[in-house]
Amino acid sequence: MTEAISKQSSIFSNQKPIIFIIGLAAATSGLLFGIDVGIISNAIPFIVKDFNIGIGTEQSIVSALLWGAAIGAVISGALAKKIGRKQTLESAALIFILGSMCSSIATSAGILIGARVFLGLGVGLASFTAPLYLSEMAPKEVRGALISMYQLLITIGIVLAFLSDTYFGTYAKIHGIVGGHWRLMLGIPIIPAGLMYIAVYFLPNSPRWLMLKNRKEEAKQVLNKLRKTEAEVTSEIKGIEKDLAFKQSGFALFFGNKYFRHAVFLGIGLQIIQQLTGINVIMYYAPEIFKIAGFTTQAQTSWGTVIVGVTNVLATFIAIGLVDKWGRKPIMYRGFIVMGISMLTVGLMFRLGVHSHHAFSFIAIAGILTFIIGFAFSAGPIIWVLCSEIYPLHGRDFGITVSTTTNWVVNGIVGATFLTLLKVIGPANTFFIYGGIEVLFIIIFVLFVPETKGVSLETIASNLLAGKKLRNIGS
Ligand code: BGC
Repeated sequence: MTEAISKQSSIFSNQKPIIFIIGLAAATSGLLFGIDVGIISNAIPFIVKDFNIGIGTEQSIVSALLWGAAIGAVISGALAKKIGRKQTLESAALIFILGSMCSSIATSAGILIGARVFLGLGVGLASFTAPLYLSEMAPKEVRGALISMYQLLITIGIVLAFLSDTYFGTYAKIHGIVGGHWRLMLGIPIIPAGLMYIAVYFLPNSPRWLMLKNRKEEAKQVLNKLRKTEAEVTSEIKGIEKDLAFKQSGFALFFGNKYFRHAVFLGIGLQIIQQLTGINVIMYYAPEIFKIAGFTTQAQTSWGTVIVGVTNVLATFIAIGLVDKWGRKPIMYRGFIVMGISMLTVGLMFRLGVHSHHAFSFIAIAGILTFIIGFAFSAGPIIWVLCSEIYPLHGRDFGITVSTTTNWVVNGIVGATFLTLLKVIGPANTFFIYGGIEVLFIIIFVLFVPETKGVSLETIASNLLAGKKLRNIGS
């Protein structure tokens, strides 16, 4: 692995540094995505108490953001095509600012749900646009790593949310009250949202979007800044022109071209897979899981959640280091195996009874952490990478819209059903289901998923439209 990492770093050092600065700026939208996803898990118990609400409303508050995100993802394709990727990211940042403000001053559960749907719009826009923008800016040799930076920032966002929740939930003394300040928890993201707006404001437009809008000269100027040689720029422009020669787009392409349709189904499948790994069961309900496993104090559950978040961040670096060296699929297989074994172990500990032996609750928590590692080095970043790579330029907005919307819808379903599942079939069976399903995912990857490492977006597109089998469009 160390050899692989050193080869990867030489791939990095062959690029202009500006590409990483731009990558980081665009990836700040991941930060907000992560903050807004992570913020709710520790805030929710206080909201429940304050508004005196039941489990149904509780689940609605958690999942409202996801429904908003699904709507945001639906509209983002058309928006990013019309006004541009950069401008869509700017809109997302403004929604983050306003949505956080409204959530923090909500006077009833209903208003809070509305505010979180609105905030979700921003998350949906950002989660569609950032990987798309990054894939269009990146040189093919580091495309995987650059899109993975977006995932890295998501995970950092989640940790920041957990930390801020821990502080305001457990320690902060305001007006003589210690902890429980959920309004501050929900309001604090205004600050990073403002920073995101500033970062995105300075980004250049995507050269591929500029070409789509017949602004070739500007596209060339941007590429001149991003690529090392004139020859690279010329060949990239040629590739994009060839891709653009294919005139159908969006719906027409979907209904008129079966190969594109296959790619869209693949994108949908990939995002369903990512969500059905069960990652958000842990992200949203980590404190509940810690409680079931026997760690019941506020400090224990909060710090446990922070540890989950930090593990998530650290393991994402493995993906960044290896994705353009090993390729997407070898990493995914390893991830599925680690995630499957971990979930089954957690289920087994619940079956044996986490309260019957102290060791069992520790093993259950260890299982959760190894699951997070498995997700973070594989499905977390790589599904986003793959989904932004498999469509031709004309159908990219449409394809990524559909796959990103799928991500949020399934995310919403997982968030909305987990507590009910726990109640109806019990924690052990719930985790067994999430563990067992990984086998199916491995089979799907073997049969249908292409390896896209080091191949230009335009080559992938022309292979797809030439009718190659999906699993071969990267070669
Ligand atoms: C997923 C999110 C998840 C996050 C956790 C993302 O890739 O799309 O649903 O919460 O990873 O790190």
